Amino acid sequence: MNSQPERTRLTVASLAALKAAGTPITMVTAYDFPSARVAEEAGVDVVLVGDSAATTVLGHDSTVPVGMAEMLMLAAAVRRGLRTPLLVADLPFGSYERSDDLAVDNAQRFLKEAGADAVKLERGGTSVARARALVAAGIPVMGHVGLTPQTAGQLGGYKAQGRTASGAARIVEEALALQEAGCFAVVLEAIPAAVTERLMPYLRIPVIGIGAGPATDGQVLVFHDLLGLLQGHTPRFVRRYAELREPMVRAVARYAADVRAGEFPGPEHTYGMPATELTAFEKFLDQAGGPGPGPGQPGARLG
Ligand code: KIV
Repeated sequence: MNSQPERTRLTVASLAALKAAGTPITMVTAYDFPSARVAEEAGVDVVLVGDSAATTVLGHDSTVPVGMAEMLMLAAAVRRGLRTPLLVADLPFGSYERSDDLAVDNAQRFLKEAGADAVKLERGGTSVARARALVAAGIPVMGHVGLTPQTAGQLGGYKAQGRTASGAARIVEEALALQEAGCFAVVLEAIPAAVTERLMPYLRIPVIGIGAGPATDGQVLVFHDLLGLLQGHTPRFVRRYAELREPMVRAVARYAADVRAGEFPGPEHTYGMPATELTAFEKFLDQAGGPGPGPGQPGARLG
């Protein structure tokens, strides 16, 4: 019997309640059905179908190339694996910047076609007006400031933001503008912990951090980072809770070796058939003239 209490489905209001209660909010990315099931069973509060999918599952070297069709497919798969957490989908680069109409059309697709509960967009600037338009259209929006990977080129690469007084002031202004635009939460990525601490008293909405220190209302990590599924550089703000890549490589290598050695499949992996049916089948093959075109020939009949 499952002794876990039944969890109820989280909403944007639940996140506000968690913040009010001082209960840390947990968020992780997911990109497909199995990762969504893992997030569900682990009991996290929010699942983000991040455009980090571009790098983690699609093999690009930035989040820029991923498009609506790919993100919708991934979000729909995650939806099928989730029951309880709030499902947020990233609006990919190019899907919202140009106009409010474009942003509303694409955000609606995440809600209607993929079953997302909310969307996330990056930056302040023109994204503040986009966020306002989405909220006016009834779409819950999460903001994202600090290191915004979609525009990392403009920011001088994938590096911490807000390390100067003017940089920190810009982050504060953007976060406050997104709050005023009606965002229900905001992500702060890769900024000094001291900036986060100074900013927190001004933010009424839940604040989720990734590389923003411990003062936020919650934390988010990328699924593949926290599970050690990828090789290569790991950002400073990641804590790896497992090293799953090596066991996966070893398991696939063992499988290949077993096939080559004739040790897989074993008797326990094969299907049997009644002896009488096998005898009848062998008779059919004999009558049909053995291997070759026989069984397909006229006159070759079972029974
Ligand atoms: O795309 C993503 O995974 C994100 C998180 C890092 C917040 O935006």
